Amino acid sequence: MRGGANFDDWLISNTSYDCPKRLPCVLASTGRRRHRSEMTETYRPRRSVLYVPASNDKALAKISSLACDAVIIDLEDAVAPAEKVSAREKLAGIFANRPGRRCEMAVRINPLSSEWGADDLLAAARCVPDAILLPKVDTPRDVLESGDVLDDNFSPDEVKLWAMIETPKALLNIGPIAELGRDPASRLVCFVAGTNDLVKETGILDRRYLTPWLMQMVLAARAGGLDLLDGVFNDFRDLDAFARECGEAAAMGFDGKSLIHPAQIDAANRAFAPSAGAVAEARSVKEAFALAENAGRQVIALNGKMVERLHLAQAEKLLAKAAAIGA
Ligand code: COA
Ligand code: MG
Repeated sequence: MRGGANFDDWLISNTSYDCPKRLPCVLASTGRRRHRSEMTETYRPRRSVLYVPASNDKALAKISSLACDAVIIDLEDAVAPAEKVSAREKLAGIFANRPGRRCEMAVRINPLSSEWGADDLLAAARCVPDAILLPKVDTPRDVLESGDVLDDNFSPDEVKLWAMIETPKALLNIGPIAELGRDPASRLVCFVAGTNDLVKETGILDRRYLTPWLMQMVLAARAGGLDLLDGVFNDFRDLDAFARECGEAAAMGFDGKSLIHPAQIDAANRAFAPSAGAVAEARSVKEAFALAENAGRQVIALNGKMVERLHLAQAEKLLAKAAAIGA
């Protein structure tokens, strides 16, 4: 087991961001992890990420006609216990018919602690998905153990892990979990907020009270270099309220939203794309710093505003994102 018998002690003493020096020591316990090289990630839009129950043939048949950036084929909460095995058996057929267009495909498995989790993980790995979404992650060990299974079964490095942040324990351990994102060998690239479970587990009655925890996820995701998706909006017929929630999530720093219905895709794609104004501003920052007169300058004035080189880096990132999604 990754980290040995003292892993829980290690976790307790590493609940802050002081752990980067220690985490690689834990990870260094296997040669495979130690020697895997750093990989350069290309930007992948994850504005709209739609759950599709693996048990729902009609919904599965729709995937290739949808404009979402990614789908999550769900084996967990959307699938009844009596259908868990037959849903898992469909995975190979689903992945044999991947949409021709760019659309990441992830599989959400059942928790490894459940009777279905281990078989789900192996079946998902055999499909070589873009990612496997782990539910009910409580500690870094939950991610590391799944990564070990993928390594042991020779899953290519391209198969990434996403983690649901949906338990009180995950929030208490969010720093060390996020820190795994700094080691490509962990495969962790994305957090998905599980707001329905958080509401159920904590008893809060209003999304307003989720905000501090959602912001904690944003902070941790950025510290770990991870993408971050907001939770689902259950009232799928109320598209105005959905669009409002997408706008809020974009302003909070989320990269995209997890969705339950195709009608939600357009609003999410719009909300998490850079606006035309932001693209124009980014272009002007880039052009200003490209002028010969500004070559050696760290800070300039542009249209009455102070602009620093950090704004140039931000502008370049935004322009790369806009180019990737054709905004
Ligand atoms: N993915 C793909 N297609 C979907 C879809 C989804 N998540 N949800 C609905 N559709 C399809 C339907 O199959 C239907 O197709 P049709 O036009 O060929 O008949 C169309 O979109 C319209 O669906 P609608 O009748 O409005 O909804 P519904 O009553 O069939 O389904 C839900 C409503 C909520 C049950 C369904 O959207 C769903 O199961 N969503 C995912 C739930 C989930 O995965 N939960 C776990 C994560 S929180
Ligand atoms: Mg959940």
